Amino acid sequence: MKHLFITILLLLPLCRMLAQEREYVIVVHGGAGAMENLEDDKEKSTLYYAALDSALSIGNAILSAGGEGSEAVMAVVNYFENSPLFNAGKGATCTSAGTFELDASIMEGKDLTAGAVAGLKTVKNPINAAYAVKTKTPHVMLAGEGADRFAKSQGLEIVDNMYFATPKTLKWIEDLKKESKKNGTVGCVVLDKQGNLTAGTSTGGMFKKQWGRVGDSPVIGAGTYADNEGCAVSCTGHGEYFIRHVVAYNLSTRVKLLHQPVGEAADYIIHQELNTKEGNGGLIAVDKKGDFAMPFNSGGMFRGYLYKEKGTGKISKAVGIGKKMKTL
Ligand code: GLY
Repeated sequence: MKHLFITILLLLPLCRMLAQEREYVIVVHGGAGAMENLEDDKEKSTLYYAALDSALSIGNAILSAGGEGSEAVMAVVNYFENSPLFNAGKGATCTSAGTFELDASIMEGKDLTAGAVAGLKTVKNPINAAYAVKTKTPHVMLAGEGADRFAKSQGLEIVDNMYFATPKTLKWIEDLKKESKKNGTVGCVVLDKQGNLTAGTSTGGMFKKQWGRVGDSPVIGAGTYADNEGCAVSCTGHGEYFIRHVVAYNLSTRVKLLHQPVGEAADYIIHQELNTKEGNGGLIAVDKKGDFAMPFNSGGMFRGYLYKEKGTGKISKAVGIGKKMKTL
């Protein structure tokens, strides 16, 4: 009996590996919104497709070499944060006061460790600050001035608040009464070769948000969640609704406890549970088998996936903006 028990214990990790149908998977998003027409704008869509492709290639280089999910998520989110194309880091949207306040979070599914920052004003790469909270403090979230000061104490790159501005956001700041929007967020979820899930999200928040407002992105369970027994999730959209529906944890728990396929559960939350008029947005998710989902109820969502098949070693990759996916 004792021998049988020990054999089962030894076989458990093997069973987990067998359940993993893909060697590794990376899924990214660059925000959701009314962008359905962008797909037909050759010049602009080419820029976004290329950026999504680059993000996937950055993740692929790390995961194919056996790197951990957190390393891949950080590198991909850093890439998005440094690009003026997306609402995170440089290119972030502005508050009603014409300033920039950034949120980010990261979570690992193997041990449920998480780190988050809210309302950062001076940290160039907010996801790095979130990771530092996770690894260097006993806390999960730091906010406001304390979070900026903590990031500085950790040697992270500090910038002036106006570093985050682009010609487009400067124009908005000049004319804050104009009803223009730049919502969206960036995110990345990963299944690595070790079978672990990781999720990360970073954002400038919502256009003209009240100063001090915190959205779903740094809220563990709302905008970001990862549990190896459920799935890794990163959300984008109208944060208040994603917080009310605890979307990321909701999805992971449906997979873990109800054993719903990740695609089915994600579709249900995005298309039925969230009010499609107000709870506008989408999410990306991946489970431990390597199944993934990218639903959105808005006009479009910048998104992409890359995975390596077990056995054949074949790599599949595609990016999308509106309804169509473009295979690369
Ligand atoms: N989903 C980003 C935000 O609402 O801030």
